[in-house]
Amino acid sequence: MATKKKSNTLKLKFDTAWPYAPAPESRSAAQIKDRYELFINGEWQAPLSKKYFGTINPATEEKLSEVAMANAADVDKAVKAARNAYEKTWRKISAKERAKYIFRIARIIQEKARELAIIETLDGGKPIRESRDFDVPTAANHFFYYAGWADKLEYAFLNKKAEPLGVAGQIIPWNFPLLMAAWKIAPALATGNTVVLKPAETTPLTALKLAEIIQEADLPPGVVNILTGAGETGAAIVNHPDINKIAFTGSTDVGKIIQRAVAGTNKRVTLELGGKAANIIFEDAPLDQAVEGVINGIFFNQGHVCCAGSRLYVQESVAKQVIRKLKDRMESLIVGDPLDKNTDIGAINSKQQLATINKYLQIGRSEGAEMYESACKLPNKGFWCRPTIFTNVAQSNRIAQEEIFGPVLSILTFRTDDEVIEKANNSPYGLSAGVWTDKGSKIFNMTKRMRAGVIWANTFNKFDPTSPFGGYKESGFGREGGLHGLLPYVELKNI
Ligand code: NAI
Ligand code: MG
Repeated sequence: MATKKKSNTLKLKFDTAWPYAPAPESRSAAQIKDRYELFINGEWQAPLSKKYFGTINPATEEKLSEVAMANAADVDKAVKAARNAYEKTWRKISAKERAKYIFRIARIIQEKARELAIIETLDGGKPIRESRDFDVPTAANHFFYYAGWADKLEYAFLNKKAEPLGVAGQIIPWNFPLLMAAWKIAPALATGNTVVLKPAETTPLTALKLAEIIQEADLPPGVVNILTGAGETGAAIVNHPDINKIAFTGSTDVGKIIQRAVAGTNKRVTLELGGKAANIIFEDAPLDQAVEGVINGIFFNQGHVCCAGSRLYVQESVAKQVIRKLKDRMESLIVGDPLDKNTDIGAINSKQQLATINKYLQIGRSEGAEMYESACKLPNKGFWCRPTIFTNVAQSNRIAQEEIFGPVLSILTFRTDDEVIEKANNSPYGLSAGVWTDKGSKIFNMTKRMRAGVIWANTFNKFDPTSPFGGYKESGFGREGGLHGLLPYVELKNI
């Protein structure tokens, strides 16, 4: 009873006492063309396929632009341009020169930060606060960071000579479109490789803006080529015989297809796939801080995050208290117009992704878990999902095992350290995890025994270009970010 009363009081407070006036970012600060061609050899080229497809704003279903659909012949053209640039210019110019170009890209991203943030939000549905404060600055920082490495590779790999691989084919997803492009392109260029990159079909616009930036930075033609298209375009990149390295971020299913496709070839490959991160709260944790971290961990970017804290393990003695605090906090989250600076949770990226999330909500209920969603109103048009938690979840339930990729949290309880480690590690994935406790020794004990690439302690979803990111098990292999992120793009020779 007490729980119910508290949450009603809080809801009343937010509905009446704190009504935020809308504070929308201006759409007019973003220039989006009606149509985009392919960016090949430093120029905009019409697709040989002669086909185009639309990209929409998932918050309104309004069409924003149409972009070219690259086919295998377009991919071949781009790979030839990248090979030519690799042989004739990029591998030959000094590392210092390469660094200057990469710095220039970083600087122009900063100059155009506002426009990039608005376009990211329009095309993908994420709140402007996130694209403005996280995606765009972190993308610029990635270029700055790897520009710094370009002429210092001898210090990154002592007593070795780091040689580039050649042409890198890079395929990225829709959850962090500009940031993923930066994660892929920056280390490839710093190490002397050239690039053919394909953004996801629902979010191509910031990658195309990045092509404009690359033009403005005056990179030699063909060093970076950007091709829009869908799965078939991605497959044509993966299967092209003159590509030396494939870097992919996306679903585990497509990751497996790619791994099969490159088996027996000389292509190097790195895969960053899904996750089902365990966020663990011990009874001695600062609970309010932990609840805020859990909220950020799962609702940040609508849960469209491979490292989202989608499984919460709470120590039994504080479970009731934590769940009540979570519910209260969920009621204060603002869901709606992604361009509004007050918005916490934006639109689901696509109709298809919304259908996947809804399917899991149904599965969770039919598995006997108890569902609680916040009472917020949803806009009439567009794709939306209320922040949702499931309690009474069993470890074997599909909602505790499979990636949902939406604002949906499965909550489980535990009693002992050994029990929670076993449960947290009982997953086909191993990308990230979180531990909340007041005790430093417990943090070290847990992080040593947990099988996840990144483990945050008393915080969640923190990123920095200097620290490596990547998974265990079906979450993929290879690391991006930091010194480790250079390795997948070089051949090391003894000197
Ligand atoms: P997806 O894996 O199909 O798409 C990712 C990228 O791969 C896109 O650029 C797509 O065009 C490309 N692609 C698709 N098929 C390909 C193929 N056969 N060969 C080469 N490239 C191909 O992901 P999708 O369908 O958009 O999302 C499905 C699920 O995947 C989500 O519900 C989520 O669980 C997971 N996912 C994980 C991401 C992560 O960051 N690890 C990102 C996006 C999705
Ligand atoms: Mg779109």
